[in-house]
Amino acid sequence: MDFPDTNPYHLPEAGMKTAKPALPRILIADDQSDVLEALRLLVKGEGYQCETVNSPKAVVQALGERDFDLLLMDLNYTRDTTSGQEGLDLLSRIQALDSTLPVVVMTAWSSVELAVEAMRRGARDFVKKPWENERLAAILRNQIALGKAWREGQRLEAENQLLRGGSGPKLIAESAAMRPVLEMISRVGPSDANVLVLGENGTGKGLVARVLHSASSRANNSFVAVNMGGFSEGLFESELFGHVKGAFTDAKTDRVGRFEMADGGTLFLDEIANLTPSQQTRLLRVLETGEFERLGSSKTRRAEVRIISATNADVRAEVAAGEFRQDLLFRLNTIEIPLPPLRERREDIPLLGAHFLREHARHYRKALPTFDPAAMQALCDHPWPGNIREFDHVVERAMLMAQGTVVRVADLGLRVGSESAPRLEDMSLEEVEAHLIRKTLARCGGNAQKAAEALGLSRSAFYRRLEKYGL
Ligand SMILES: Nc1ncnc2c1ncn2[C@@H]1O[C@H](COP(=O)(O)OP(=O)(O)OP(=O)(O)O)[C@@H](O)[C@H]1O
Ligand SMILES: [Mg+2]
Repeated sequence: MDFPDTNPYHLPEAGMKTAKPALPRILIADDQSDVLEALRLLVKGEGYQCETVNSPKAVVQALGERDFDLLLMDLNYTRDTTSGQEGLDLLSRIQALDSTLPVVVMTAWSSVELAVEAMRRGARDFVKKPWENERLAAILRNQIALGKAWREGQRLEAENQLLRGGSGPKLIAESAAMRPVLEMISRVGPSDANVLVLGENGTGKGLVARVLHSASSRANNSFVAVNMGGFSEGLFESELFGHVKGAFTDAKTDRVGRFEMADGGTLFLDEIANLTPSQQTRLLRVLETGEFERLGSSKTRRAEVRIISATNADVRAEVAAGEFRQDLLFRLNTIEIPLPPLRERREDIPLLGAHFLREHARHYRKALPTFDPAAMQALCDHPWPGNIREFDHVVERAMLMAQGTVVRVADLGLRVGSESAPRLEDMSLEEVEAHLIRKTLARCGGNAQKAAEALGLSRSAFYRRLEKYGL
């Protein structure tokens, strides 16, 4: 395994001979006895002790009674089912019982999504049936070594290190389109100005809110986030302003609201366009005075909070349509930070890709992979309707699917062909131009002279456009 800069694991080389007090013990679970027998032979041959069971129940029982260094388990047990649900449920149970036990799952060739879901639920790796002995043996070796390292408390050490070294959330933004965003963050971050962050779904509004907070003098106080969507009127009051015991039937104790929790810090109001008219009115009053009462109490309280809000809606259009109060918008958007969609900041894709790979590799305790050139090209060409969130999920999935340490195009699971190409009719003229330039550049191997000729542009006209689109 390699985390080049921060390898906290100090793993022994796979297969390294060290004086071991006892042979590692593996628990194998499958409902087919021929599979169990074949695996037993393999595992014994690799020099491990092993025990076999044939049901989820027996797995839980065995884990409760004895210590194991690894669990190798099938996802399907009852014959006729291939959903893997039993296996997934079992994984969740094991996570709750002992999250340090390395679990490797076995799946049929066809169930790639199932393997991904299993990894999300805590499996460390997977093998496809029918398995290759070599590969399975390598996985077992690695996972046993990793599991040991974790169990010896290295995990705590790594986490502490992270806590000590970590300095706020990481915002990746090297593209030209993100420059104004960075400038604004550094200018208004430290102030107490209210900021409204605008942008499509998954563009990083929540992250920018956290970055603003950590750049402010309030960084050591609370950052309290509250999603404004979908509160009933009563719940809205009690969530934001708190309630006292007996204020309504279920109010068994006093409760502090989000405003009070955020006192001295930052309150992040997410999805503000979802506020009902009466909630807007209520919020406006509190923002104007800084005063509120807990539900069921007449005592006036004050909280000193900085408000950062966010929405993916066109809030101005909502004001024009009479659906959002203009005076509330004025309160919220002292400063407005619009976040560009990922398709307008493609230069960030390689960096974001590396960032997410590292994060997920760390999370799943896998070796840090890299993208092969074709995979990187595919990432750069994808239209990313779901923006950075979608990108993050694709990278997560790809990392889980990758065999070895290279992520290939197939691992990305991106649909190819017309479906993934941006549709011209959905693009603005400028987007079409930028798209064409990018394509031509790629076709000409990055040679600007050739690309300019191919497009029938003079060099200077071509460079002007490169600059304009930050290419
Ligand atoms: N510039 C960035 N650098 C690194 N990670 C990012 C960046 N922007 C977004 N992310 C990550 O992408 C994911 C989506 O971002 P976030 O939740 O902030 O988006 P959002 O705009 O609030 O989405 P939604 O509209 O769905 O609420 C998060 O995991 C976030 O950490
Ligand atoms: Mg969000």
